[in-house]
Amino acid sequence: MNITWIGHSALKLEGSKIVYIDPFLSGNPKASMGLANVDKADVVVVTHDHGDHLGDGYAICQKTGAVFVSFFEIAEAAAKKGLKVEMMNVGGTVVVDGVSISMVPAFHTGGLGGTATGVVVEMDCQKVYHAGDTGLTMEMKLIGEMYRPDIGFLPIDGRFNMTPRLAAKAVELLALPKVVPFHYDTFDAVKSSPEEFKNYVTGDCEVIILKPGDRYEL
Ligand code: NI
Ligand code: MN
Repeated sequence: MNITWIGHSALKLEGSKIVYIDPFLSGNPKASMGLANVDKADVVVVTHDHGDHLGDGYAICQKTGAVFVSFFEIAEAAAKKGLKVEMMNVGGTVVVDGVSISMVPAFHTGGLGGTATGVVVEMDCQKVYHAGDTGLTMEMKLIGEMYRPDIGFLPIDGRFNMTPRLAAKAVELLALPKVVPFHYDTFDAVKSSPEEFKNYVTGDCEVIILKPGDRYEL
């Protein structure tokens, strides 16, 4: 599949289906595309309801008819807006249009439900771990063991989630073969250094540093 880092925590996965994760486009100063550029989507996955993650999630589903996937409280709010939803929660896996979404723990807050999650999305036999916002947690060892993601996207801003040093430890716990740092330099409050992160990563993991708008072929 092809993965585009739209900017911040927003990803677009293109394979047999088109999947958006945490599509914060409107109001995102680093977004490489806007809502107007979204013409097709099959699934929209949201890790938690902070504005920089829920973003344009509802609007993309309204525009394209995509299925909205999130945990119970956010999905319930989406259903009230008339969207097609798949509700789930941590520990579960749902399959939508052949795309498998597994919800995994994150150590963070949120409004609806009071919590946040990460997700492992599998499409065309490839697995992407999107950590959402999270601190470093031992749960990552289990996520690595039980889902074996092919690539992980980890937040490294050091204020609302992990410092580069802690994110490098997450790479080790997750046993990731490939990792992309994200969720940094979008705003002044979240300045961080992907190079510092790369220097902390040990072992065989390939650290891939992208710019917003870059498309990576997995
Ligand atoms: Ni958050
Ligand atoms: Mn965030």
